[in-house]
Amino acid sequence: MPEPRLRDFKRIVFFTGAGMSAESGVPTYRGAGGIWKEYDYRRYACQDAFNRDPEAVWEFHNYRRGLVAACSPNRGHHIVARAGQGSARVTVVTQNIDGLHALAGSREILELHGNLWRVRCDTCNIKQQDAHVVREELQCDRCGGWWRPDIVWFGDYLHEPILDAAQAAILGCDLFVSIGTSAVVYPAAYLPEYARKAGAVRVEINPDETPASDLYDVHLRGPATEMLARLAGDDPELLA
Ligand code: OAD
Repeated sequence: MPEPRLRDFKRIVFFTGAGMSAESGVPTYRGAGGIWKEYDYRRYACQDAFNRDPEAVWEFHNYRRGLVAACSPNRGHHIVARAGQGSARVTVVTQNIDGLHALAGSREILELHGNLWRVRCDTCNIKQQDAHVVREELQCDRCGGWWRPDIVWFGDYLHEPILDAAQAAILGCDLFVSIGTSAVVYPAAYLPEYARKAGAVRVEINPDETPASDLYDVHLRGPATEMLARLAGDDPELLA
């Protein structure tokens, strides 16, 4: 199959993982420099850990907030955002919690794993969206309980309406571009199957092969920024 160009499609889904933000300086989860190599998720990223030691979990999340706050969207995020400003309808289905797609200007974003900059109180059933700064108020001002990062941790269920919306967008797309995901975390890793069902053209952007590589028609083996620029072709509106 010839290498597709974004401008030839009407309904595009970008399915993104940590590799999308790697060139912005956000650490990935696995592989060299991966977060889960250095930090045990059982101590920092699951409900049990939060129940046991909320301060330690917050320390970890505020550390991550600090890291991400110093990062900006990269050229790839901007190409994805510009693709959504033309005639094609574009949905970003992301596993990332860093908020960089929104900062780049993407409008239709489905955050499967939540958002590093949002907190919730499960007792009062409320959420707060923060600026991109570390959080100082760790206790809910209504009930005095702990704010919890509104992130899908290990063992949590994904928010069903978001998963359903992602599935519907993928079933309706004619181009599906996976970018920078190791494709090992479910149920997110199952979503690309819907692109096959939809008969969409499927592109995988990743420097490495993944367990899902067989599902794709086109493999762009390289960094997200460069490979997205290739998909943009010579379209000045995407590369501006
Ligand atoms: P991973 O860290 O598992 O995988 C990152 C992928 O990005 C790898 O396949 C790399 O080869 C690729 N990669 C690295 N640099 C890249 C670049 N410059 N351009 C393109 N690709 C690059 O991250 P995810 O697949 O996103 O969940 O991980 C999935 C989930 O596991 C995360 O959302 C997180 C984690 O546990 C939660 O926290 C719930």
